[in-house]
Amino acid sequence: MDLIEELEKLEPGLATGLAVAETDEELETLRIEFLGRKGRLANIMSRLVSLSPEERPKVGQIANRVKERCQKLFATRKAELDALKERDELARFDPSMPGRDFWEGTLHPVTLITEEICDIFIRLGYNIASGPEVEIDRFNFEALNIPPDHPARDMHDTLYISDTVLLRTHTSPVQARTMLAKQPPLAVIAPGKVYRRDSDLTHTPMFHQIEGLRVGANITMGDLRGTLLYMAREVFGRKTKIRFRPSYFPFTEPSAEADISCAVCQGAGELGGETCRVCKGTGWVEILGCGMVDPAVYEAAGYPPDSTGFAFGLGVERIAMLKYGINDLRLFFENDIRFLKQFGRLI
Ligand code: DAH
Repeated sequence: MDLIEELEKLEPGLATGLAVAETDEELETLRIEFLGRKGRLANIMSRLVSLSPEERPKVGQIANRVKERCQKLFATRKAELDALKERDELARFDPSMPGRDFWEGTLHPVTLITEEICDIFIRLGYNIASGPEVEIDRFNFEALNIPPDHPARDMHDTLYISDTVLLRTHTSPVQARTMLAKQPPLAVIAPGKVYRRDSDLTHTPMFHQIEGLRVGANITMGDLRGTLLYMAREVFGRKTKIRFRPSYFPFTEPSAEADISCAVCQGAGELGGETCRVCKGTGWVEILGCGMVDPAVYEAAGYPPDSTGFAFGLGVERIAMLKYGINDLRLFFENDIRFLKQFGRLI
């Protein structure tokens, strides 16, 4: 058969194949068969050398045209198949199907309480303050009237990095740092992580505190009490009561621990005839330590000795447990999604 005849058969042959090809794979098989490097067209081209020099360009031209037309056939069929596929997908699309829910995150209860308490103090005119978690002895202890041999250091279970560098054991060093940076009057609220060498059912090596400090003119223990009562009622409800028990902290004098009426049994000490497990029947739960800033702290900060002010520090996990009725501290750190998603929505 002469080469021209063979060439002219290629196009109808391809058209027949393409008419029944339905997938990209089938198209590719045909392309290899007809236009591939070892395909039918290539085979014909390789035999051009057997022609006379006059015939060769003529047949060559025909071969090129056949090649172009074959390529066009491929393109047309491919476009047709793509259009069909799209129509098929559209036919399967059901606009009446309900949309897929997307995962809405929730804020961790420690974050929720921290934000709630900070917001309360911001409304009272306080500013947010912060300090480093890797702290120096001077701010964690000395400037807070806890010199090197002070027995209060034993209470802190400190994690030391070197003799003078440590992980802060409380947020109180932010008091010392704030007083060095600012002159009175000032009112700051300082949330943050604190660390202690302590780990059991009711203690974790890292937990959260919020520190408050207010220094100004003629500030009294009555101001402290009123401020804390306001906060307690905002967090736990309008009927909440507060009481101070005398206590000791090196950086306050006088010092107190503040209790609130138990949020679970409303201060009754019992619930449905049984002793309340949260307050153990006392009707009160401890929520924080506080007091009037000790003159030794003013002295370390270079403040006048007749400055007046109060400070307090509270544990965030403890407040969250009381407010949300959480009975196991470990839940805060396991991050079980079933626990976390019970709290406020992230907006
Ligand atoms: N820093 C104390 C602690 O971690 C808590 C505390 C008590 C902070 C009394 C205060 C305060 O500011 O006045 O145990």
